[in-house]
Amino acid sequence: MTFNTFDTLQGSVRINLEKLSKVVNSGIPLTAFFFGILGYSFSFYFHFITVTFIYLTVLNFIYLHVQKRHALLSNYGIVAQMRYMIESIGPELRQYLFSSDTEEKPFSRVERNEVYRKSKGIDSSSAFGSQLLFNENEIKLRHSMFPQSKESLEAFSLCIGEERGLENSYTLKHPLIISAMSYGALGKNAIRALARGAKKAGILMNTGEGGFPKYHLMEDCDLVFQIGTAKFGVRNEDGTLSETKLAEIASFSQVKVIEIKFSQGAKPGKGGLLPKEKITKEISELRGVPMGEDIVSPSYHPECTTPQATVQFIKKVQDISKLPVGIKLCLGLEHEFLTLIQTMKALDIFPDYISIDGAEGGTGAAPKTFMDDLGLPIYKALPKVQNMLIKEGVRDRLKLMCAGKMINSGRQFMALSMGADAIYSARGFLLAIGCIQALQCNKNTCPTGITTHDNHLQAGLDIEDKANRVQNYIQSLDREYIELIAALGKKSLHELNDENLFLEGVY
Ligand SMILES: Cc1cc2nc3c(=O)[nH]c(=O)nc-3n(C[C@H](O)[C@H](O)[C@H](O)COP(=O)(O)O)c2cc1C
Repeated sequence: MTFNTFDTLQGSVRINLEKLSKVVNSGIPLTAFFFGILGYSFSFYFHFITVTFIYLTVLNFIYLHVQKRHALLSNYGIVAQMRYMIESIGPELRQYLFSSDTEEKPFSRVERNEVYRKSKGIDSSSAFGSQLLFNENEIKLRHSMFPQSKESLEAFSLCIGEERGLENSYTLKHPLIISAMSYGALGKNAIRALARGAKKAGILMNTGEGGFPKYHLMEDCDLVFQIGTAKFGVRNEDGTLSETKLAEIASFSQVKVIEIKFSQGAKPGKGGLLPKEKITKEISELRGVPMGEDIVSPSYHPECTTPQATVQFIKKVQDISKLPVGIKLCLGLEHEFLTLIQTMKALDIFPDYISIDGAEGGTGAAPKTFMDDLGLPIYKALPKVQNMLIKEGVRDRLKLMCAGKMINSGRQFMALSMGADAIYSARGFLLAIGCIQALQCNKNTCPTGITTHDNHLQAGLDIEDKANRVQNYIQSLDREYIELIAALGKKSLHELNDENLFLEGVY
């Protein structure tokens, strides 16, 4: 029988597992016997090898004749174990040896390197030409024949809450915001590095749904406090909103904006998930949940079961916090979203922004099918939302934000051209602080110390160094923004619109 795991591309080198296992299965006890004789006849030290092979003989016997769970082990014994070993290091082999620069998912090496270089402040020019495959379905930015002079460009400024004439409105000075990632999904050093970096770069940071933002507050950056469906940090015993706790959190001078999370691109229709491996005593206390069990947040807010109730809930949070209040969701059924907008219009109550999370967005942990098969990707969702808001005549009542792999200026400009006023990025900033895409965010084993609470792993994450990387990333993006705005023939980011986009049959 031929076993295909080790096929080369041409199929010319093949390992016959049947024969190999026969040789190994009889070879192991024979080797033990052979070294036993050597140990007996020549030197006692040969028995070290004898013992090792006796151990392997017993192990092989168990694989072949005792255990019943793995058919491969039952059929081939210890040789099949090699398959499991190679499979377990497959991601590393592919990442370091076999995948091409543009192949890896969710971010290719080319994409990640661009963020790494920016965050290290290294020149990010490349040679010879794009490594992307150009095809007609790709979205591209349209440049102008008459670029603007860089000196004439205007600075970015976006006031959240101005539509309501809010006294505590908040003015963004940069279009990029660190997207929601909770303390729990991230370790404390990562949170502090991002928060310190946000402070240095002068950008806003979202706390995620992790409860009281202890580590964010330490670094004194401007914050969006997120209320997730489990309402960690602002919850009554019965799971409803605690007005007192919300008022208390909103009173921190660092908390500038409140965000109500309805759904997330990577797991729409499902609440947050924090695997039990990542729940420390401190996290269980901050969130008010027991240790030893996965934390699974409800899939919806108990207060928000109809469009009317949802809009009233937004108003309640606005009234209690006295801050700008945004909502976050991934677009699913369009008629429901339209009804929500129409209800806002009818009640004359609007959130200060809507953030649309694309289905391609990241997460600390989620079921695969939710990540792969649910929700609209951002470039499909954003134009729909923008059009609905315009059609209903309410586009000027709120700001529109978005997220979904917005790690480079090109993608960010596309989103801004589709109608977004500002951009959220989560994984862009994780890459900036050294994430190597090990895909272990749900296991507490993140090798770069970012999505783990293991003290040993976290010790490698130097807060000050990584904060500087966040700042470098923003500064490098800023330099690129200036070049791009000028090339598109515009004077500011606010002027970008769909005339700057090209997509066959759409723009
Ligand atoms: C490690 C990690 C933790 C996250 N935690 C939250 C969270 O607490 N609340 C939330 O609304 N979204 C959370 N998200 C989703 C992001 O805020 C954002 O919506 C999504 O990642 C956008 O995609 P991007 O990573 O491509 O920027 C998390 C994402 C990651 C990668």
